[in-house]
Amino acid sequence: MEQRVSITKLKAMKKRGERIAMLTAYDYPGARLVEEAGVPIILVGDSLAMVVLGYDTTIPVTMEEMLHHVKAVVRGTHRAHIVADMPFMSFQADPQEALRNAGRMLKEGGAQSVKLEGGQHVAETVRVLVSSGIPVMGHLGLTPQSVNQFGGYKVQGKTQAGAEKLVDDAVALEQAGAYAMVLETIPAQLAQVITDKVSIPTIGIGAGPHCDGQVQVFHDMLGLFTDFVPRHAKRYAQVGEVVKQAVAQYVTEVQDGAFPTERESFYVDESALSELTRLG
Ligand code: KIV
Repeated sequence: MEQRVSITKLKAMKKRGERIAMLTAYDYPGARLVEEAGVPIILVGDSLAMVVLGYDTTIPVTMEEMLHHVKAVVRGTHRAHIVADMPFMSFQADPQEALRNAGRMLKEGGAQSVKLEGGQHVAETVRVLVSSGIPVMGHLGLTPQSVNQFGGYKVQGKTQAGAEKLVDDAVALEQAGAYAMVLETIPAQLAQVITDKVSIPTIGIGAGPHCDGQVQVFHDMLGLFTDFVPRHAKRYAQVGEVVKQAVAQYVTEVQDGAFPTERESFYVDESALSELTRLG
């Protein structure tokens, strides 16, 4: 059986200066395409809440919903490392509850690691998970589960105090045993300082070009989520437009009788036909 990409391999990529392309996926066909396109690490992000389930924020998504999608992504892949995002309130209340929930992501979901938002205040939780054999990816900067605390989706770490706190958070995550961390929507220069300071990979989203890797949201980069386009997203394709055109053509063809044709239809042979016409 082929081995999935391990955290050892991901850490070695930083050492070799090999940039890491991470992408989200939420279902079986999406995950298959992402892996076939060569992505070594797939995040089943809690962005699921917004881009798949239609919520306004990531806050409402539950453990059960996350697990449902983690399982589908795992079934659609065999080489990629699958990171399961820990949803809001699955890890904040206490480290033991975090351990039980993170354990479910690996044991029931089939993920290889979990991601959780926060810095120094979650370091103890990271330590508990890692010492129980659960690899943890950290997440700093504009952590969307704290949108109500931040008062909106704003760039973080722009002040001296804010920047210093994020550097301390990054060091705390590394010391607690995290194997990598996402840096979201922070100044590029600050992301460079953090990337140089820690020995584990930094994966940026809206954090400039100096991170060890980048992550994008599948629906943003493919034009499948059209409510808004975050500034950090790059549209690599307009798949939403392709879908709409194809569906509109289907509607027209059904209405004017152009679909189905003989190719999509099934027929009985001549001998059975006379029997059939008697039934009419
Ligand atoms: O949920 C998610 O998709 C994420 C990425 C934006 C890093 O956390």
